[in-house]
Amino acid sequence: MTGTAAVTESRVASRLQGSGAHALELDGVTRLFGALAAVSGVSMRIAAGERRAVLGSNGAGKTTLFNTISGDFLPSAGTIRFFGEDITDLPAHERIRRGLRRTYQISQLFRGLSVLDSVFLACRGVSRRRFSLLRPKAADVNRVQAESILNAVHMEADRDTLVATLSHGQQRQLEIALALAGAPRFILFDEPAAGLSPTERRDLVAILNALPRHVGYIIIEHDLDVALRVSDYVSMMHNGRLFKEGTPQEIENDPEVQEIYLGGGHG
Ligand SMILES: Nc1ncnc2c1ncn2[C@@H]1O[C@H](COP(=O)(O)OP(=O)(O)OP(=O)(O)O)[C@@H](O)[C@H]1O
Ligand SMILES: [Mg+2]
Repeated sequence: MTGTAAVTESRVASRLQGSGAHALELDGVTRLFGALAAVSGVSMRIAAGERRAVLGSNGAGKTTLFNTISGDFLPSAGTIRFFGEDITDLPAHERIRRGLRRTYQISQLFRGLSVLDSVFLACRGVSRRRFSLLRPKAADVNRVQAESILNAVHMEADRDTLVATLSHGQQRQLEIALALAGAPRFILFDEPAAGLSPTERRDLVAILNALPRHVGYIIIEHDLDVALRVSDYVSMMHNGRLFKEGTPQEIENDPEVQEIYLGGGHG
């Protein structure tokens, strides 16, 4: 029985591989800062449309891993493939052009804009027509897209609000909106639930679960409750390395994880 399951699994895996269906394939990704290996030999396969949570204590290397995937930093070693293409050395804007997006742990919003203008400009920024003077309709297309994104993140009522006056929770929601500009294929969310109230957390879970199913993501999350409710699979990092992976249910029932998260050892 186990043998059959293993064969079936490997057939599925090879079919995915053959059709280039992996959104992300990391092989031995390493990032050094001087003598410190912030990320060390991380290998992962994430299928198209898959939603992955990455957990780990402070300094585990989660954000650094994101930086190598997004192109904010190049890895010191290893390779990164996005939908079959080697993007290891591509600049960040080329990765964005291919449908990869990210949000940041520390807010990067333009405080002087309205909510709608922020999302409109993000849509325009990734639109292929952004340099064209001959397509006046492009502005309308981007505006329609911006409005539909605001609906998706439950911010339609805030469209004319100045970003500077939004609450922390609304700012985090707006960051998700910006990542949705221009039909992304895969999004890296860096602790979107940080500093949110319980109600805002529930809203975040609903927003993520309602994203189009073909949009995959990795979410870095300290709150186990949120992480397990928005992911298909969970990877845990410690000291720059992956040390445990499993389904949300496996992770929830893992004695070591229970010790870390319920025993107060989590930083
Ligand atoms: N630009 C940098 N220069 C030097 N060291 C860095 C840099 N960025 C991260 N580090 C170090 O790399 C290690 C991993 O940091 P990273 O920010 O990736 O952790 P993290 O898992 O995201 O932690 P947190 O949960 O606190 O956000 C830490 O020891 C950190 O101090
Ligand atoms: Mg981090």
